[in-house]
Amino acid sequence: MERPSRREFAGTLATLVALGGFYRLAHARGAFVRPIETIMNGWVRELMQLARDVRAGRMAVTVWQERMAALHQRVPIADVLKYIDFDRVVSGVAYPKDVAAICDVALPGVPADARFGHKIFAYRRGAATPPHVHNNLVSAHLVLRGSLRARTYDRLRDEVAAEGAPGVIVLAPTRDREIRPGETVTMSDERDNGHWFVATSERAYTLDVPVAHVNLAKHYATRASEYGMIFVDPTPPPDARGRIAAPTMTFAAAVRRFGG
Ligand SMILES: [Fe+2]
Repeated sequence: MERPSRREFAGTLATLVALGGFYRLAHARGAFVRPIETIMNGWVRELMQLARDVRAGRMAVTVWQERMAALHQRVPIADVLKYIDFDRVVSGVAYPKDVAAICDVALPGVPADARFGHKIFAYRRGAATPPHVHNNLVSAHLVLRGSLRARTYDRLRDEVAAEGAPGVIVLAPTRDREIRPGETVTMSDERDNGHWFVATSERAYTLDVPVAHVNLAKHYATRASEYGMIFVDPTPPPDARGRIAAPTMTFAAAVRRFGG
């Protein structure tokens, strides 16, 4: 291949420098600013469609998980923060020592009867969402700021105990790592049904989108709270196959045991 002459090289360089200046100027004037409204309106429309499809049983819960993770990956976090007016929403938050503060967040374009949740979980360092599983619910947790240790578990089976004793949920760990802005952790009856989050930065925030009353053909031996939650202790040592027999517990006991 012929090497460019010094003069050609200098000419190309000059063109690139000039183009760089042009793009910077154009960007500063807003000529190439991406239309945030358009991107975010599309994001919200797809959120609503996915929620409708999974609730109606037209979409498998694991497909919902994949589609939500892909959807969140397509939007820049900076745009999400602007769209949900993040700074205003979290401006007055009092951060509990042990668990996350929960802030309602409006999604422009989503009607009040859309029948899926959208809340910000705001954590101080060490505060936790204690380990729990869900019945007939899907959710997606998008990290907006900070970092969290995320542990997730497949739920293999419920073992109901004799009268008066706590039941056990048999879990298989699927993830234990730090998650950062832009990453999404999803769950459903079929995959990663249990989760446990602990903030590892001074402040950490996630946007949680749950859809309840899904996959209703699936029945569990353990009844859940009105929020579809069952708190568990996943810290007993695993068996030879890596499975954990996690006793169920009340929310108050879970906060005492696992709150920051
Ligand atoms: Fe949850």
